[in-house]
Formats: sequence, structure tokens, C-alpha cells
Amino acid sequence: MKHSKATFIGLGQMGAALVPPFIDAGLQVTVWNRSASKADPLVALGAKAAADFVAAVSASDLIIVCLADYTTSNALFHQDEITPLLEGKTIVQLTTGDGREAELGALWAAEVGVNYLDGAIMDYPTKVGGPECLLLVSGDRAVWDSCETQMKLLGGRMTYVGSKPSSANLLDGSLLTMYYGNTFALMQSAAMLEAEQVDIKDFKTALNAFKPVIESTWKRTIEAIDQQDYSGNEASIHVHSLGVQSLLKRAKKSGVEHGLLQLFSEYVDQTAARGHEADELPAAFEVFRRKG
Ligand SMILES: NC(=O)c1ccc[n+]([C@@H]2O[C@H](COP(=O)([O-])OP(=O)(O)OC[C@H]3O[C@@H](n4cnc5c(N)ncnc54)[C@H](OP(=O)(O)O)[C@@H]3O)[C@@H](O)[C@H]2O)c1
Repeated sequence: MKHSKATFIGLGQMGAALVPPFIDAGLQVTVWNRSASKADPLVALGAKAAADFVAAVSASDLIIVCLADYTTSNALFHQDEITPLLEGKTIVQLTTGDGREAELGALWAAEVGVNYLDGAIMDYPTKVGGPECLLLVSGDRAVWDSCETQMKLLGGRMTYVGSKPSSANLLDGSLLTMYYGNTFALMQSAAMLEAEQVDIKDFKTALNAFKPVIESTWKRTIEAIDQQDYSGNEASIHVHSLGVQSLLKRAKKSGVEHGLLQLFSEYVDQTAARGHEADELPAAFEVFRRKG
């Protein structure tokens, strides 16, 4: 089988979680980490700890990287004594980064004769290897075809998102923006409820019931942005302005942090000032998009 051996570089919280599914599937696994002791639990499972970075990259044709950032990764891989050892091998870069970093990674790989994919892990370490775990990978289709079976060991929703090396990182960044936006909004809500002596468990129930409304709002917003049509008869920016003002007033009165709601209010006001008072909420996209 092609890629019956795999090397994992980086055994932090996420990097270490990537290894067991490969061991369980019967591949010969080599691991390397700056702090060598983090290899011990994986060696107990059947991995081989490389004596050094040279031994690690020499051990396998498939090298999976999960480090703190691209600067760390580049400092290791772009060394003159390392690049000749990589020729013809496949590197899958799963370190979180932006689109430009992925593009530069692919350019470097082409220069030194490495097959390269760039990806993003869209779940927590405990979910890796499970059926729901979502990972995105992009880059040369032929490279993906050559290691698809192995990469799918990492999660049931391992998804190839196209031949542009930057695609996985760009989608990752957008999904993380949604993740942070929603989670901070949840904390804003929870703080207001706590100040008003409402049980957070009641919020959990209400939020579950409200999910379909949020999802349909996301769907309509994406369609409106795609079609550049913000018109509609559901709820105008004027109505949203009144709603957000009311929330802001309530947060201020309860004495909680209210910067997020202040921002919401400013976005809605700026949208109205651009002449969209009668349009729907997606019109606020005009405030966000690139100026000029
Ligand atoms: N944790 C998550 O839930 C999660 C989810 C999705 C994506 N990710 C991504 O996965 C990547 C790793 O995250 P993590 O949670 O595993 O982080 P972590 O636990 O902080 O591990 C960082 C890794 O980078 C290594 N490292 C840092 N600086 C180094 C240096 N100068 N030279 C060599 N190695 C160095 C660390 O080695 P030492 O052990 O020696 O410090 C360790 O292996 C990140 O890009 C992160 O965004 C994480």
C-alpha cells in the first residue's frame, strides 16, 4: 500500500490526537516533537519516537504536520540539510494558518520537489478519528488521491475542498470567525441573564428551540449577499435598529460588558445611514465589505 508509513511532526494537544487513528489502522507510525517526552504515550500505543527531526522526516513518505504556527513549521522544514531529504515525499500541513501561508507552502514544496496538501482541523482533539470530525484539505488533486484513504482516518468528515492550496485555510478562517462571533454572543447573553437572575439552563433550552431561526437567517443572508439583493418584507433595518437599541439599553442597565451590543448598534446605524433603512439585515454586509 502507498503510504503504509506516516510521520507526525508536532505532538501538542492536537498533534498527539492525530496519531492513534493511524496506529489503530496498522500503519507504521513515527513521531517527533520538540519536547521529546510528549511522544511517550504514543510510543506506548505502538508509535516509534524518532531520535531527531532528520530521522523523523526520513522514516516515512507521508509526513503530517501540526505545529503552533507556520513560522515554527517553516523553521524546521526549510533548513538546507532537510529539504533534500523531502524530495518525492508528501507533506500534509495541518497547522492553522491563512491563505497566503498555504500558498507559500505550496510554492516552497514545488521548488523542493515535495507533494503538498494544506488543511485545517475543524474540531477538538477528542473528536479526531470519530465519524463527525470535520477536516478540510486542499491542494493538488493527484496528491489528495494518493493519500485520501490515510487522511480519512483522521475524521469521518475529512473533506477535499479543491486544488487551490489556500482554500482549506480560507474556509477555516471564515468558519472560525463564525465560531468566535457566536460564542462571544453567547457569553454576552449569558452575562445579561445571570445579572437578571435567569437560570443559564433555561437559556440552553430556548437556544435549542431558536436554532432553526438562526439557521434560516444565515441561509437568507448568504443568498442575499450572493444576489446583492437586500430587499424583503420580514424585518427592516429600522426594526432591527429598535431591537438592538433595546438590547443595548438592557445590557447597560444590568451592568454587564456591552461592547458587543454597542458594535451591533453601530453596524445597524451605519447600514441605515447608507440608505438601507427599509432593507433587511443582510444589508449590513455593505458596512463590512472592502471599501473603495
Ligand atoms: N487544540 C485544538 O482544539 C485545535 C483545533 C483545531 C486546530 N488546531 C491547530 O493545531 C495546531 C496545534 O495546536 P495544539 O492545540 O496542538 O497546540 P499546542 O498544544 O500548543 O502544541 C503546539 C505544538 O507546536 C510545537 N512548537 C511550538 N513552538 C515550537 C518551536 N519553536 N519549535 C518546535 N516546535 C514548536 C509544540 O512543541 P512543544 O510540545 O515542544 O512545546 C507543540 O508540538 C495549531 O495550529 C492549532 O491552531 C488546534
